Amino acid sequence: MLSRSALRAVSNTRAFSSSASRQTKVAVLGAGGGIGQPLSLLLKLNPQVTSLSLYDIRGAPGVAADVSHVDTNSEVHGYPADQLDQALEGVKVVVIPAGVPRKPGMTRDDLFNTNASIVRDLASAVGRVAPDAHILVISNPVNSTVPIVAATLEKAGVFDPKRVFGVTTLDVVRASRFVGGIAEADPAEVAVPVVGGHSGPTIVPLLSQTPQGKGITGEVYDKLVHRIQFGGDEVVKAKDGAGSATLSMAYAGAKFTGALLRALNGEKGVTVPTFVKSPLYADQGIDFFSSLVELGPNGVEKIHPVGELSAEEQKLLDACLPELKKNIEKGKAFVA
Ligand code: NAD
Ligand code: LMR
Repeated sequence: MLSRSALRAVSNTRAFSSSASRQTKVAVLGAGGGIGQPLSLLLKLNPQVTSLSLYDIRGAPGVAADVSHVDTNSEVHGYPADQLDQALEGVKVVVIPAGVPRKPGMTRDDLFNTNASIVRDLASAVGRVAPDAHILVISNPVNSTVPIVAATLEKAGVFDPKRVFGVTTLDVVRASRFVGGIAEADPAEVAVPVVGGHSGPTIVPLLSQTPQGKGITGEVYDKLVHRIQFGGDEVVKAKDGAGSATLSMAYAGAKFTGALLRALNGEKGVTVPTFVKSPLYADQGIDFFSSLVELGPNGVEKIHPVGELSAEEQKLLDACLPELKKNIEKGKAFVA
């Protein structure tokens, strides 16, 4: 039988080896913003995150001091504008909600002129300091900012398509919630694959592939699809000039980050929609696309095709592709 001290030594070794294998440092770039703050809080609650690195050109040390008092194990550090490189040292996952949000009357593409350079410069720093990190892009227009990140990393010779993701989870969250409301089902039980991109007509919900959604037809179907595609506008209008979705986006961002961390830590079968470099429509010149993606220990493991579509969904996809192509080309041209 082992002595008490030998037992203590064994359990200490176990504690060390399990935490050592799961050291996950996550950075939030834009942590002082409307999304960044609640997202940082939600990541502090995730036991898979062992260290949280909060960066913004304004206010990150304050957010970090505040979040660091939450009684979970992870450590939190805040970095001011001139310490981006320090913020990125040793990070495994970088989440980027930096950039300006919409005001009523604007499209996401109207944000391009401001956000393109913000995202390019942050991606360039990640490529230099943490070239092995997984990058999760929230900043709009996602259809263009993801190609910008990819092209920036490509230029630096460190692009790995398995590790760059556009976060489209809010569309999936909205679809679950709205379908749940119509079908009187718990949204947690409703999984809607939302494919394409992240802006109006490029958002394509596949309700026919959802048990609670496939019976929805006619005017109810049309209104539901419109609400999923333009849910962002609903929030922009209600906030009346004060910005766009922040709290539901923080939830969605934390949900996607959590899914990726589970897969990186070895969980099998983690499959979620996300906007990645994709072969699905590459023959039409569209080399980024959101579809169900299985995540694994190295990021993207398997990209699933969209599957069987209803006639309505085929029409939605036909409307999505040319718009998406334009948005992707605009992002690529910016870096070229
Ligand atoms: P916000 O203005 O409240 O916050 C943005 C933050 O970014 C600010 O704190 C600002 O200081 C910071 N920032 C600006 N330039 C920076 C830089 N170079 N480095 C680091 N930080 C920088 O805006 P928000 O409401 O948090 O929205 C942020 C972005 O997320 C917007 O582009 C918005 O359109 C987008 N968004 C995307 C989704 C999605 O589903 N992907 C959902 C909602 C919002
Ligand atoms: C959303 O879908 O809520 C975001 O993309 C923000 C926006 O501009 O609508």
